[in-house]
Formats: sequence, C-alpha cells, structure tokens
Amino acid sequence: MLKAEIPGKRYHQQTKHSYLSVSLDPNYVDALTQPSCYKSYPQFYPRFPLNSDRKVENLIRLSSQITFEKTYKNNSVQLRVNPSAGALYPTELYVQIRGVQGLIDGIYHVEVARNSLTLIYQLIDDGVEDYILPNYWVKGLIILVSCVYFRSSWKYKDRSLRYCFLDAGHHLGAVEAAAYLENQYLQLYFDFDKRSLNQDLGFENKEFITGAAIIGELKEKPTRRLRSPIPFVCGTDYFEANSIVEAGYKETLSPYSFHQTWKKPEFYYEPKKFLEVVFKRRSARKFQQQSITYEDWMRILNVLEQPIPSVSFEAIEIYAVVHRVLNLTPGIYRGNQLIKAGDFREKTGYLCINQALGRESAVTLFFVSDYQNYQTAIQWAGLIGQRLYLVSHYLNLGCSGIGAYYDDETQAFLETDKDVLYALVIGQ
Ligand SMILES: Cc1cc2nc3c(=O)[nH]c(=O)nc-3n(C[C@H](O)[C@H](O)[C@H](O)COP(=O)(O)O)c2cc1C
Repeated sequence: MLKAEIPGKRYHQQTKHSYLSVSLDPNYVDALTQPSCYKSYPQFYPRFPLNSDRKVENLIRLSSQITFEKTYKNNSVQLRVNPSAGALYPTELYVQIRGVQGLIDGIYHVEVARNSLTLIYQLIDDGVEDYILPNYWVKGLIILVSCVYFRSSWKYKDRSLRYCFLDAGHHLGAVEAAAYLENQYLQLYFDFDKRSLNQDLGFENKEFITGAAIIGELKEKPTRRLRSPIPFVCGTDYFEANSIVEAGYKETLSPYSFHQTWKKPEFYYEPKKFLEVVFKRRSARKFQQQSITYEDWMRILNVLEQPIPSVSFEAIEIYAVVHRVLNLTPGIYRGNQLIKAGDFREKTGYLCINQALGRESAVTLFFVSDYQNYQTAIQWAGLIGQRLYLVSHYLNLGCSGIGAYYDDETQAFLETDKDVLYALVIGQ
C-alpha cells in the first residue's frame, strides 16, 4: 500500500495543529456542559466490590483506580492511576473472567467510581475469545479497553480521536503495571474483529473497543461468540456525534499491523516502591529547570526500548530533545544517538503550543511513526508514555504527556516525514 493511502494518514492530516488553527480555535468550552466521565450500568445488574486482598481483583482495581481528588474553582476532579488528556477519561475497562475462584464466569464492567465490578453478561459456552483470538479459550482475564469518545470530543473536537487512542494506550500501560505488581504476564491484542465486538457489547456508535489484554492460560478450543448482544447503556449523560471521529475510528481498523514474535519486556522495579509510584503518579505542572543525571536518563531510555508484549508490531521512533542532562551535550537525539547539537529550549516550548513544560523540561520527547495501523501505533505511543511516567516517578522525576503541539513544524524541526504521534516531557 502506498504510504499516502494508509488509513489514518488522512485523519491525522485533517487534525493537525498549526499556529493558525490554534489561534482560530483555542478549544474553549463551558465547563458546565462537560459530559459525565463515569459509566454506570442500571442498578439491577449485580455488583461486586473489588477486594484489594485478592490477587485478581487487586490487579483490576489497580488498573483504573481513583488516586487523588483535586479541587479547582469549586469543581472537584477525581484523578486516576492513568493520566488522560484534559482529565476527561474517555476510556472504560471491561473484563471477561473465566475460571477464577470466587468470581462468576462473566463479562464485567469496571465501575471506577465505586471500585467495583458490574456483571453485565454471564458466560455459558460462549465468550469474547472468538472475536479476538479465534479457536482459543482463556482461563483467566480478557481485559478490553474502550473509548466513550464524546467525553473527549466535547472539548477536543476532531482531534479527540488521537487523545482517545493515546489515553487507551496509557490505560493499557496501567494494566501492564498492575500485572507487573501481581506477577502476571500479559499479552496485548490490537488486530481483531472490533466491529462485531462493539456491536455485541451494545456500544452503538458511542463507544468503541481499541485494544485488549489477556492475562491467563490459553487452550486451543473454539468458543462461541456471545449468544445475545448486551443492551446499550450510554457512557455519558448526553451525547453529540462527531462524524470525523467515528469515520476515523472505522477507517483505522485496518490494515492489520506488522507481525512480530511475542517478546516479554523486562522491568526492574522494587515492588513496594513501584506500588507507591502507581498511586502517586501525577502529571508534572512545572519543572525546576534543574538537570537530571546521565544515569537516570540511561535508565529511562532502557525502559523506553523494552518490547511491547504483542504479536502486532508498530515501530515508534523516539526523538529526545535534551536540554538538561548532566554530562550530555544538549541537542536532538534519536535514541541515544546525537543528530543535532544545540540549545532548543525555546523551540520545543514553542512547538508544544507555547507550554512552559516543553521549555523547562530536562528532556522533551517526540514519538514519530511510519505506521501500518494508525490506531495501534498511537496506542503504542500512549503505552510507552505510561512507561515513561512510571519510570520517571520511580526515579523521583516528573513527567507529563503533551498532546498539543504544532504537527508540521515539529516534523520540520526533527527533519522527519513520519507523523508525530505524541510528545512528553520529563524533568526535576
Ligand atoms: C494524551 C495526553 C495528552 C496530554 N496533554 C497535555 C498537554 O498538552 N498539556 C498538559 O499540561 N498536560 C497534558 N496532559 C496531562 C493531563 O492534563 C493529565 O493527565 C490530567 O490532568 C490528569 O492528571 P494526572 O495525570 O496528574 O492524573 C496530557 C495527558 C495525556 C494522557
């Protein structure tokens, strides 16, 4: 397929920020009209509190938990283990549980506000395996990440699909961290029959699956698809459709990504300290403009280079614009290779739409890709972003995702023709 024809290219092009586009539409919204960011199934569905003393339940709990409440101008916002563009939290988690002692075999919605599971479908000889991994049967967990896109499109309009995918990647990263803490391996899936699954989960046009994680034992055995669809329940209190977002999602369901053999990432975190990191993770709001050590930066790079445990593959290339790392020449790096020396603090501040974080960081990172599947590539960028947040906090450094940057000018600055999928900053 010609590069220009790859689905996602058009959407990406259509939703680029430029100096002009941001000046013309600065994204101001009336906070009073914000749609709800919690989905709740009707009361008649049975609910089960997530008990942190039980391994499986704690893993699910740690994947989405509220960890901080912030009050801002008489408004309180509940922040979670996963960061989210504008704290709008478009992502939801569903878990199929099979063969886990003490839990009914079924499909559950993770109700973040109540730290509980809502049983929305009981399994007999059916399940979600056939949509994701035909001819297999999973004992354990199949975790599905979905996006209730209006929560994000309410503010970010057409560009919001990028944030939905990035947030979904971060959420998968939160699942990965929870699995690490509970000593479980996970496999991530991105290329599967999401269309049918959306239909059978009753999502209409308002919510869509982006990725899945399997934590459990696989057995070669066919499983029936869901015997009846799950009723539609809206993830927001009101809804406005966005045709560009809906079309963007559908067109980026294909083609499937490149294939790789499954590889396990290696992280070396002390569990007790890492658990604290998961709870304390926040987005940096200001940096002290001090240097970070070369050793810390090498440790961070090592984490960024770890494989993503999936048979799908998308190459995410990392440009690091180093401003303040001890014993390292400031300049643009690809991985740890210097490609252009210089002081680019003002430039990266400008590229991040004049956000001070982009200028005051120790390193401003840009993730670019020549993707095959756009939806997967952006989720990978989000997942690597989550790893960056966690390793930075582990090293007592700050980190923030930056979804707003001038696309074309960033590409020109990096001298790349690959699309810029995400920016992040780290620092003291
Ligand atoms: C995809 C994504 C894009 C983001 N973009 C920005 C940004 O451009 N500027 C910024 O200051 N923070 C940005 N953030 C950080 C969010 O504002 C932050 O995650 C949210 O307010 C929740 O706070 P917390 O991360 O401390 O839990 C971004 C986060 C994500 C995940």
